[in-house]
Amino acid sequence: MARSDLLVSLVRAAVAGDRARVRATAEALAADERAKNHHLLADRLQQALAAVSLSNAAFGNTATAASGKEAILEITPRTRLDELLLTLPVREAARQLVEEHARADVLRAHGLEPRHRVLLSGPPGNGKTSFAEAIAEALALPMFVVRYDVLVGSYLGETNARLRRLFDYARTTPCILFFDEFDALGKERGDIHETGEIKRVVSFLLVQIDQLPSWTIVVAATNHAELLDRAVWRRFQLRLAFPAPGPAEIAAFLAKQMERWPQRPSLSPERIAQRLGAPSYAEARDFCLDVRRRVVLGLGEVGVDAALEAELRTWEARVRPESGDGGGTVVSTPARRARRSHGKKESEAAPDTGA
Ligand SMILES: Nc1ncnc2c1ncn2[C@@H]1O[C@H](COP(=O)(O)OP(=O)(O)OP(=O)(O)O)[C@@H](O)[C@H]1O
Ligand SMILES: [Mg+2]
Repeated sequence: MARSDLLVSLVRAAVAGDRARVRATAEALAADERAKNHHLLADRLQQALAAVSLSNAAFGNTATAASGKEAILEITPRTRLDELLLTLPVREAARQLVEEHARADVLRAHGLEPRHRVLLSGPPGNGKTSFAEAIAEALALPMFVVRYDVLVGSYLGETNARLRRLFDYARTTPCILFFDEFDALGKERGDIHETGEIKRVVSFLLVQIDQLPSWTIVVAATNHAELLDRAVWRRFQLRLAFPAPGPAEIAAFLAKQMERWPQRPSLSPERIAQRLGAPSYAEARDFCLDVRRRVVLGLGEVGVDAALEAELRTWEARVRPESGDGGGTVVSTPARRARRSHGKKESEAAPDTGA
């Protein structure tokens, strides 16, 4: 039998039309049942809850839920956590996050919720999107990537209406809700160039994020944490930095990649890392793929050392040191563009880790 105080409180909340309280009370009921080992009833309560939207407009309206999908791209997570090279605090945070969700029933039985608002920050190509994917993979959750092209309308109020539908949909099912380039939405509200519309969107976004149930894990990624509104920062329970890797990390990454090659090059990973300068992980991965392509297309005539040397020479001719901004042959990598437009080094853009 369920606790009488919770039942009374549930009825009161329902009569008052207070959906937030209905949800909170029903969650407490489910947790209570689970603590008593009544897993079947707890599951049924939670399933019933998952089908209910928080916002009055969308309550019981399946058409709204369907249109909430319009601004979502669902991707199948493939990356695994153990494939990523992560800093210690990030690795530990990932482990905790996965555990909190895998054992959410234990937390709920004690009146606690798993953390579910995560901010990832750092220069391009160092694993933010991959991290979100890997969390989804570890928890076997779908990953929903928010599409701003669909979300942001040209008319006043349109964006908020779409945001509302998006969140109404996202809260119906356990998932990772991924906001890439979050600074596009969560910008500093004091920015004098922003219109009132953007400010309203940001306020609305924050309210929506606050109201999400804990089974919807919001992961927001940004290259420019410094552009984020402080109120936005505060919302995130986990704030993780993905700084640009140093030579040692790149060497470790290369060594891991080269383990899978049929032939090992005679140059050490450390030496290759040194010659690559300061690439992102994504750039280092592309470099490795280029070497592999050369070897494969060489049909046995091009050895791994020759291919590596050729690619290193192409690389060295292509990428110049920071001072070479004015050079004609400098290739603009995303990391370089980011650094140039902000006039600071990548590592400085990374916030502290809140792990
Ligand atoms: N920490 C890492 N460990 C291993 N591989 C990585 C790591 N970071 C990036 N990579 C490789 O680089 C690719 C691109 O990384 P990812 O898309 O996760 O970067 P990002 O930080 O989201 O970049 P952006 O800011 O441009 O969106 C990944 O698919 C992976 O192959
Ligand atoms: Mg990304």
